[in-house]
Amino acid sequence: MSDLRIRYAVHTDIEPVLRFWQEAAEGTSISDDPDGVARLLARDPESLLLAERDSRLVGTVIAGFDGWRCSAYRLAVHPGCRRQGVATALLEAAERRFEALGGRRVDAMVLEANERAHGAWAAVGYHREDHWRRWVKPL
Ligand SMILES: CC(C)(COP(=O)(O)OP(=O)(O)OC[C@H]1O[C@@H](n2cnc3c(N)ncnc32)[C@H](O)[C@@H]1OP(=O)(O)O)[C@@H](O)C(=O)NCCC(=O)NCCS
Repeated sequence: MSDLRIRYAVHTDIEPVLRFWQEAAEGTSISDDPDGVARLLARDPESLLLAERDSRLVGTVIAGFDGWRCSAYRLAVHPGCRRQGVATALLEAAERRFEALGGRRVDAMVLEANERAHGAWAAVGYHREDHWRRWVKPL
């Protein structure tokens, strides 16, 4: 999309992004608060990608690389801007970042019930693996 700009988030974006996720994201992440996002930006300043149109925030994705795995989190597009290629553009930007860093494969956790997300991930070449379950332990 020619009028879509993708850039890294900076510290002043934290509050607007948290408000955006309340409206646009699927559910709430354990790290969805100012400290959580600030810690992400401090650790990896280029990891939170924002899509803007006319300076308005229309989409996000976290492209996280820890030196071992590439993980995409918080893919979200404003409800009024869906089916216009915003998620595709964000994922392409995330993949360019991962490739530049030497990443080999991208992982994403996608809720089983989130069927529209299945369509979006599949459209850009991701496939589901059924032989895993998420194992977690809160700290
Ligand atoms: C899922 C989501 C990010 C998709 O964003 P989007 O910008 O609308 O996606 P795109 O426009 O790039 O879609 C690309 C393709 O994905 C598929 N797709 C996207 N949304 C779809 C839907 N609701 N149903 C079926 N397929 C869909 C289509 O193939 C689409 O191409 P098309 O529009 O030419 O048919 C968006 O619906 C969203 O923010 N949902 C709420 C948050 C969420 O669920 N995030 C994912 C967490 S894993």
